[in-house]
Amino acid sequence: MGTYAVTGSASGMGAASAARLREAGHEVVGVDLRDADVTADLGTADGRRHAADEVLRLSGGVLDGVAAVAGVGPNLPDAAAVASINYFGPVALLDALRPALERDGGGRAVVIGSNSATTVPMIDDRLVGLLLAGDEEAARAHAAGAQRSLPAALATSPSISAYATSKFALARWARLTAVTPEWARRGITLNTIAPGAVVTPLMTGSTMSEDDLDPDAFPTPMPRGIFGRPADIAFWVAQFLSPEAGFTTGALLTVDGGTDAAMRPDAQ
Ligand code: NAI
Repeated sequence: MGTYAVTGSASGMGAASAARLREAGHEVVGVDLRDADVTADLGTADGRRHAADEVLRLSGGVLDGVAAVAGVGPNLPDAAAVASINYFGPVALLDALRPALERDGGGRAVVIGSNSATTVPMIDDRLVGLLLAGDEEAARAHAAGAQRSLPAALATSPSISAYATSKFALARWARLTAVTPEWARRGITLNTIAPGAVVTPLMTGSTMSEDDLDPDAFPTPMPRGIFGRPADIAFWVAQFLSPEAGFTTGALLTVDGGTDAAMRPDAQ
């Protein structure tokens, strides 16, 4: 049985992923802001360092896999925080944990992107560049400035551009990184899952109940006529983390009930 780290383990997809791994008999080190083996704020450099140190201590420095699930949604008012949590959180943690993934002959890593990266027409190219360059300070300043110029009509999703852009850049980082010798030739795989609308506290917020949700009235098409459940994502997290998945790296899997296919039928 293996040892896995899962961020965002206190809620939603991260909780479902951790539960699925534990049910299969694996050890899981959960990381979250609360209710986790390691409590840490992945939105800050100190929090990421603390998280990495604690995961390495609790795992004995050897990991079979890491699922970087923690993240926030476009409803968070602070676009700079969205950039820090959704992009720098997983990237810095995976960079710090990579050596532990190498130790047992090659581990597995998966990050959670979003189908917003391909379905929201608000990707900010300048922000993509700053994120991929690793310049957190400049990325935060740019995200905050760009947010101020967005139309008021976007009040319910004030960080939609920073959100979609953070997930776009994360998926690109995963593809760029997966094929470097430090990952690919050391047996470590790195893939992205891009979920669509999944019923979690991130999606429903504190005011909405599940009964308020109608797939046919959703702003983006929902061809399957259903919303996703955390277990729908945990299923794929477990596949990407399994030892048998060694020939799959740099891949992006959209799990969204058909939204992306409906909106971009010609994209490959
Ligand atoms: P959730 O809100 O149920 O779970 C997210 C978890 O991440 C929470 O436990 C939260 O405490 C943790 N987290 C947030 N900020 C953190 C920080 N600074 N440090 C440490 N932990 C932090 O949400 P859900 O839906 O399970 O989200 C999981 C991932 O899926 C996120 O990356 C989200 O952006 C992404 N996503 C969600 C979609 C949805 O429709 N629910 C759609 C596409 C992507």
